[in-house]
Amino acid sequence: MAEAVVRYVLGKITEAAYEEALLLYGVGDKVEWAKRELQWVSAFIKDADAKQNKDARVKQWVEDVKEVAYMIEDALDKFFVRMGGGRSKDALRWVAGMPKVLIVKHEVGTEINKIKQRMSEIEKNVTLFELEQRGNSSSSGGSSTRQQPVRPIVVPEIDKTEVVGFQDDIDHICEQLLDQSISRRSVISIVGAGGRGKTTLSTKIYKSIGVGHHFDCRIWITISQEFKIINIVKKMLEKLQINAREVGDEEYFITLLHLSLSKKRYLIVLDDVWSSDHWSQLEVAFPEDNNGSRVLITTRFMNIAKESDAANKPYELGILSKDESQQLLLKKVFPNQPVNKCPDHLLPLINQFAQKCGGWPLALVVLGGILSTKDLDYNIWNEIILKLDWQIEGSKCLDIISTSYDDLPIHLKQCFMYIASFPEDYKVRASTLIQLWIAEGIVQHQSTKRMEKTAEDYLEELVQRCMVRVSKRSWSGRITFCYIHDILRELAISKAKESNFLQVCPKSNVDSTSRISASTRRIAFHEYVNVELPIGSVAPNLRSLIYFGEHLPNYNKLRMVRVLHLEYSRYIRDPNDDPKWLRHWTNLRYFRSNIEFYPRKMPTSFWNNKMLRHVKMAKGSFVMGPPSSANLDNLVTLKGVVARGEWKAKLPHFPRIRKLGVFIDSDIDWEALINSMAKLEHLNSLSVTGDQYAVFTPGLETVADHRWNRFTPAFKSFEQVRSLRLNYSWARNVVCDSSFFPSHLVKLTLKNSYLEQDLLSALEKLPSLKVLRMLDFSYRGKQLIFYARGFKSLQQLKISFLLNLLELKVEEGAMPMLNLLKIRYCIQLEMVPDLQYLTNLRELNIREMSDEFRSKLKGADQHKVKHIPSVKINQKPLVLNVC
Ligand SMILES: Nc1ncnc2c1ncn2[C@@H]1O[C@H](COP(=O)(O)OP(=O)(O)O)[C@@H](O)[C@H]1O
Ligand SMILES: [Mg+2]
Repeated sequence: MAEAVVRYVLGKITEAAYEEALLLYGVGDKVEWAKRELQWVSAFIKDADAKQNKDARVKQWVEDVKEVAYMIEDALDKFFVRMGGGRSKDALRWVAGMPKVLIVKHEVGTEINKIKQRMSEIEKNVTLFELEQRGNSSSSGGSSTRQQPVRPIVVPEIDKTEVVGFQDDIDHICEQLLDQSISRRSVISIVGAGGRGKTTLSTKIYKSIGVGHHFDCRIWITISQEFKIINIVKKMLEKLQINAREVGDEEYFITLLHLSLSKKRYLIVLDDVWSSDHWSQLEVAFPEDNNGSRVLITTRFMNIAKESDAANKPYELGILSKDESQQLLLKKVFPNQPVNKCPDHLLPLINQFAQKCGGWPLALVVLGGILSTKDLDYNIWNEIILKLDWQIEGSKCLDIISTSYDDLPIHLKQCFMYIASFPEDYKVRASTLIQLWIAEGIVQHQSTKRMEKTAEDYLEELVQRCMVRVSKRSWSGRITFCYIHDILRELAISKAKESNFLQVCPKSNVDSTSRISASTRRIAFHEYVNVELPIGSVAPNLRSLIYFGEHLPNYNKLRMVRVLHLEYSRYIRDPNDDPKWLRHWTNLRYFRSNIEFYPRKMPTSFWNNKMLRHVKMAKGSFVMGPPSSANLDNLVTLKGVVARGEWKAKLPHFPRIRKLGVFIDSDIDWEALINSMAKLEHLNSLSVTGDQYAVFTPGLETVADHRWNRFTPAFKSFEQVRSLRLNYSWARNVVCDSSFFPSHLVKLTLKNSYLEQDLLSALEKLPSLKVLRMLDFSYRGKQLIFYARGFKSLQQLKISFLLNLLELKVEEGAMPMLNLLKIRYCIQLEMVPDLQYLTNLRELNIREMSDEFRSKLKGADQHKVKHIPSVKINQKPLVLNVC
């Protein structure tokens, strides 16, 4: 990890805006010295890494290098922050002449002199320990450190996991689930060690058609180690679409769940139960109506399985056979290719690998993942076999996983460890993860690629290596959500702790928080309650605070922070009520908060930070956006802010902005504002929310005049924009034609626009439109007709909350590429549309529709949808009021 640290510090001090500021502050010579030293020392690290396990002195040398690199970062950052961070050039020149600069410069000079002494020791020891130069000394953050050539990363064609084997297991368990002769609510358990395939198997069972039809309702839920009954029950209610109160105690939510399930034949899957207590606490929420309801538990522990239902023998999950093991391995080694693609000279090795994995699916996929990145060279593959310690029986899976970590190039090691900052079983939004990686400086800059693209490639490589799993991809195949298996997560946490890369505090217990110290650089809190802990004082060098939970820590005094990710599990107002601290975040690159923010106006210095890259405020927090004078050279994402009136004359300087999400209130001159935004050259995604909404009344045609927007801007001139989201009511008499939208638009989301049929004629000719989402009150007509030859490229269509809609019609030849259609809560729509012409439709998803619609879909009108491979019909929403 010392190599990663050196490369990271080097990358940071050569970051353009940072280096430029330090130069202007007059410490360019110090930066130059640091760069030279770090580059020089990095050439010896590989050799030292290889030797350190045999020689304690070399091990210490590696530690020293790491420490010195961090000392350099701290000294320069401290200076940078005290001088006011990445301000504009003019401001920098002005500040550079101030007497304060001399004092602070003197301080940094003293620090650097101390570091020089440590460095000269390190230099001496290079000769003493006979360390050799290996590879290039890295320049700007270093180049890739792969030892072997790799095959290109392949994005899988199909999203779903292809399950190998398990057919007997599936048949056996399905039989028990569907057995009509047992009417009591019985509990069936699947037992097996981590990585044996319990989740994969239970998912496959849950999704099987027979099971889907047999039960009135189904819930699939993951029970992690961080069990909290109230959270689990709330999640179950959400999945049942039950409107529960925001606040309530455990008893309230359990009673509500019990009531919602009663008299229904239900199936509940509790995946990965960790303790019998968890089961006994949950059990009371599941009614016994003697109607054949079932609970399926997966667990690693036999006692839990036995205690959950004494009458049912736990089902012990077997291992994959030799053939199945080979098949699974080959699928991973050659993604998207027929399994017989394996060259003959490698087949004997495949057999060996498969055999050694002992039929353990997780070991097989991870090993397959390593091999998928290697050249098809016998010697390279053989080397991997030799690396694995096959002597230790029973530790094969962990052994293979740890080898797969060791095999990662350094930058991917950091990216992998970073995922541990999210809670267990958390579905991580890929774009958030990518933004965090970049803000952390662990993504290498490549001159030919945008950083976001490079980071996306990293994520794809981790997926191909089976270190990270995809939970959702977008229409275009890009990863939107991902997660990691808990065994891999444990590995990430332990590696992160070992290398002092990241400290994960899963619960606020003494053990995890007592380790927070001056050397802590990144912390992730998952359930923090000690609001008194002054993190800024205890961990003055903290660069990243990633926070999930219910009580915010006191982060007022953080000075050096680069990354702040605040994800609160409930909507609250930020209790850190001293706005002064905001002024000190001059080193900040990433800020995201889903917490209502105080104050509404950030200090000018917050916005005058050239280092800022991603800013996302909570919805509804109404924080004013940056002033026109702000200089945000590196800002790529700005979301959740109020557009300022002054922007119509001059936008803030954000030449790199790609994602912009603004709230515009009705008093502002929309036309001028929108026109000035159209000039943003790199803008790719724009979201505009207004403060006027149509009044919701089903069947209502007219809306009070004051509710309509006076002006509806056209977006034609936003030729660079691919994704547009508009959420406000449009001017009443607006005529929407094809000159309204940018011609290259790919994704359009409309909300509250309250438009008529002319909307579709404006959209149907857009040649690149792939995703159309007509959400809440976006359309007020009674008929929605998709005419022949319209929407040539459309792949996904979502229609929801269109309360006047009586008829949906799709003519032959319309939307020929459509593969996903979602219809939700169009309560007056009773006729099932004839979808027979949509021959490419793969999935029809129906949620919260009327009884008539659903029964026709299952009965008389089934022929209209029978060609669609997946038709999902969710139950009608239940609205229960329990006091
Ligand atoms: N039968 C199988 N076919 C294909 N992949 C499998 C199979 N069983 C497990 N896997 C893969 O192995 C990994 C671990 O499986 P998982 O079901 O999460 O294990 P568990 O829930 O027992 O810990 C996953 O990446 C999964 O895709
Ligand atoms: Mg599992």
